[in-house]
Amino acid sequence: MSQQEQFSSRIGFILSAAGAAIGLGAIWKFPYITGQNGGGAFLIIFLLFTLILGLPLLVAEFTIGRTAQKDPVNSFKTIAPGTKWHYIAILGMTTVFILLSFYSVIGGWIITYLGKIVTGGLNGLNEAQYAEMFGETIANPLITLSAQFIFIMITIIVITRGVQNGIEQANKIMMPALTILFIILVIRSVTLDGALEGIAFLFQPDFSKVTSGTVLEAMGQSFFTLSVGVTAMITYSAYLPKDQNLPRSAFSIVGMNIMVVLLAGLVIFPAVFAFDLSPNAGPVLVFNVLPTIFSQLPLGMLFFAAFLIVFLFAALTSAFSMLEVIVAVISKGDAAKRKKWAWIIGLAIFVFGIPSTLSYGVWSDATLFDKTIFDLADYMVSNILMPLGALFIAIFVSFKMKKSNLYEELKQGSSIKYGVFQAWFFLIRYVVPILIVLVMLDVLGIW
Ligand code: PHE
Repeated sequence: MSQQEQFSSRIGFILSAAGAAIGLGAIWKFPYITGQNGGGAFLIIFLLFTLILGLPLLVAEFTIGRTAQKDPVNSFKTIAPGTKWHYIAILGMTTVFILLSFYSVIGGWIITYLGKIVTGGLNGLNEAQYAEMFGETIANPLITLSAQFIFIMITIIVITRGVQNGIEQANKIMMPALTILFIILVIRSVTLDGALEGIAFLFQPDFSKVTSGTVLEAMGQSFFTLSVGVTAMITYSAYLPKDQNLPRSAFSIVGMNIMVVLLAGLVIFPAVFAFDLSPNAGPVLVFNVLPTIFSQLPLGMLFFAAFLIVFLFAALTSAFSMLEVIVAVISKGDAAKRKKWAWIIGLAIFVFGIPSTLSYGVWSDATLFDKTIFDLADYMVSNILMPLGALFIAIFVSFKMKKSNLYEELKQGSSIKYGVFQAWFFLIRYVVPILIVLVMLDVLGIW
């Protein structure tokens, strides 16, 4: 997509940005990390961070992108010429590089499961056997690396053509499909025998389980699901015409994200407890639980296949936005360069991601600080790099950009009241940076 091309409609942009935001973060990561962090209390902290930090940051990134209407590096250079602020974009590019390297592992798992269904590999298994089968499958490097490769190839091919072509249309079908399938699943899951325990786990907070680590994970998760802190949303909003309503878009995206997160939780936890599985299973949680729920539905495998397709789509639209951040900077709207660099960067990410894939098989013993390579990459991105990116973006917007210009930009296409603007400005200038710093220092035990 060249810099001049723009999203064709308001709903087109919102759905594309929502598509970029809603992905594995909400559907795969949220359930497993909530499971690991004790349930309800984690959910509450996550929701608070989403509203107090994530939402203002989303508005901030939109404002930067649409003010400058350039790729992230050049957006910073345009707004603050002759300064080093564009290093925020370099940090963002580095972050999405690592992010996509392990994100594609999970994308590959979805493709692997689809393959299993098509070849009948799931027929006649019971609950315990699903988990066992999945564990064995992802330990096979040939299968997982091929699947990861396919995931990255699709991402590269779409990015060589420009994100908006086709994606905008596809989102209009896939987002509602995702919601409908989720609602069917929630109904099945919450009506299982023993489901109540799972609902209580998700909604009854037990703050005694909260540690400084939990709070950092909840913050990282709120950035991860909203795609903030890595300049991805700057990249998308740069393609936005001036008549679009930025605050409203941000609200819609946050609203949709929270909805999907809650739906995912309501699908997974009731089933986890009904089937006596462990909420603590980690990254494989969703993959262990889903086939069990579907096997309890009429035409279950058909529904499962449909769900996996939508799930894969959600993961891919997020992956596109990651690769787009890097390719937009390097190609600067030059179509030939875009093609070449999408391939080079995409393949480099695949190679870089190989150790993450192998950490579920032959390299499962390779650990550092008690974490596998996969977990380490995920931890670095969500709990260190994204919060740092978010911190710098908040500081840049509120201290480097002129307050009156910010208001002017936000007012274009919206009727935002000055009081609301002031509230946002206060959050992004003081609350966001201070909270990020406190949460990060708390984990280091510094205060
Ligand atoms: N928000 C995406 C998800 O939840 C992940 C993402 C993060 C995408 C950062 C782009 C940039 O899956």
